[in-house]
Amino acid sequence: MDIGVFIPIGNNGWLISKSSPQYMPSYELNKAVVQKAEQHGLDFALSMIKLRGFGGETEYWDHNLESFTLMAGLAAVTEKIKLYASTAILTLPPAMVARMASTIDSIAPGRFGVNVVTGWAPGEYTQMGLWPGDEHFTNRYARAREYVRVLRDLTERGRSDFKGEFYTMDDCVLSPLPAAGRIDIVAAGQSDTGMKFAAENADYDFLLGTGVNTPKAMQETGQRYVEAVRAAGRESGALALFMVIADETDELAMAKWHDYHDNADLAALNYQADEAGADATAGEGSTARTIALPEGAVNFNMGTLVGSYESVARMLDEAAEVPGVKGIMLTFDDFLAGLDAFGERIQPLMQSRARIPSPAPATA
Ligand SMILES: Cc1cc2nc3c(=O)[nH]c(=O)nc-3n(C[C@H](O)[C@H](O)[C@H](O)COP(=O)(O)O)c2cc1C
Repeated sequence: MDIGVFIPIGNNGWLISKSSPQYMPSYELNKAVVQKAEQHGLDFALSMIKLRGFGGETEYWDHNLESFTLMAGLAAVTEKIKLYASTAILTLPPAMVARMASTIDSIAPGRFGVNVVTGWAPGEYTQMGLWPGDEHFTNRYARAREYVRVLRDLTERGRSDFKGEFYTMDDCVLSPLPAAGRIDIVAAGQSDTGMKFAAENADYDFLLGTGVNTPKAMQETGQRYVEAVRAAGRESGALALFMVIADETDELAMAKWHDYHDNADLAALNYQADEAGADATAGEGSTARTIALPEGAVNFNMGTLVGSYESVARMLDEAAEVPGVKGIMLTFDDFLAGLDAFGERIQPLMQSRARIPSPAPATA
């Protein structure tokens, strides 16, 4: 089973809390994160694109780097790990993203892929005059479908004459092509429409794990994706997202989680809830509905594995058994310490990572 890391391109990572580690995003931090990930044998790293934060006392995600330019830098200082950048489709034309992808692939041949983001928070786009109106909530996946078609035409064949509702190509060309003759395209749809889009167009779909210490709770979401892929009649895998909060004992780890939770940045959470509530059409299971649930809002209600290194290893193995799950992407409360703990203490105990050689020595 593959393991990846969701790198901290925005300040404070995925904890909207006043007591979690407080840090700014920087190239140096993210370089240290991906190099550690590579050293510990992780398979991939993904950066998101976020264009407006939630404010509050922690200035949550008010500080964010740009995804493609960051990954281009990281491509030059890594050797094996696969790298994904995220495109917010309302901001970047697909033909330019194809060219950016072919450029980053030239820095890291065969190691680059694109995460296609439709956008769920209007504030990110209205601020720059790029929100097409609330009809985007209902047609965002129709737009994404055309977007991927253009991306695939250009990165796989070097030419697109696609004429659609949202994009019109006129003998559009791309050269050089990526080294592998294609790039992986991933998505993160949780809604039924989002999953259908991913199953029909993407190589992988990221699924939010759910609950605290319930690694199998995503079985139902995983099953929905397996069915969507079956209906699409093509190959596409699920990648599960989990936050790891680990320590020497279950009690020590749980104390950290409770502390982060009890010190949630409520002003930032309120902003997030308002943005998530803007889509009146959002259905059960959609991201907009899931992240607004009060009990785990401090980390977007992402599936969270809290415990000793042994407990976390066991839970990750359980998550790996969920049908359809091809890999797991991790976030940490503290990325640098968390990645070392993963590589040195957790991964060596995981059956599903038995193929990874014994831990590499830690670097200073
Ligand atoms: C692993 C992962 C990565 C994501 N990356 C981004 C991102 O970079 N930018 C963003 O605005 N939303 C991001 N999202 C949110 C998804 O794009 C969101 O789920 C999408 O709008 C799908 O909506 P749906 O759940 O309604 O289908 C991400 C979600 C996950 C689980």
